[in-house]
Amino acid sequence: MTPEALAALQARAYRDMAPWSARDFADMLGQPTVLLCASPDSFCLGRVVLDEAEILALATDPDHQRNGQGSRTLRAFLQGAAARGALNAFLEVASGNAPALSFYRHHGFARTGLRKGYYRLPDGSRADALLMARALTKGHVPGS
Ligand SMILES: CC(C)(COP(=O)(O)OP(=O)(O)OC[C@H]1O[C@@H](n2cnc3c(N)ncnc32)[C@H](O)[C@@H]1OP(=O)(O)O)[C@@H](O)C(=O)NCCC(=O)NCCS
Repeated sequence: MTPEALAALQARAYRDMAPWSARDFADMLGQPTVLLCASPDSFCLGRVVLDEAEILALATDPDHQRNGQGSRTLRAFLQGAAARGALNAFLEVASGNAPALSFYRHHGFARTGLRKGYYRLPDGSRADALLMARALTKGHVPGS
């Protein structure tokens, strides 16, 4: 998926969050630690540093949600991260993003922390971020 396609998909999917530009995606994709798993309607982008994987952006096109696509791209990401040596995966998610919280819980992530006022919303207000994490096992992603 090109940086332009990633930015367009994310802009359609993210409701309250400011989406990244195509340039943001291109810069990210140029980094050696990056890991991108994508299908035409969904992507999961993150990085793997030593034994930790961080999910930085994940989205499914609104016309194709609740169809298992997000689960497939997340599983591919977690398996790829485990293959690179990651033992844990973590992410930040807005505390009011109920669909994403449900999605990550469904995939075995649990809350590990709170970052108050972490996100700036398009209307200028702030939203808390929840930190979520789960363990991975090399070559196998348990519970997915
Ligand atoms: C979160 C997101 C990626 C899920 O993608 P998806 O392709 O719809 O996810 P799946 O179909 O694989 O859903 C798997 C499970 O997650 C949970 N889930 C997904 N969307 C949900 C929703 N809107 N409400 C409640 N639970 C939800 C359910 O348990 C679901 O299983 P089920 O459909 O059998 O009930 C999608 O809603 C999205 O793009 N949201 C906007 C972007 C975003 O918030 N990204 C996360 C930023 S950190």
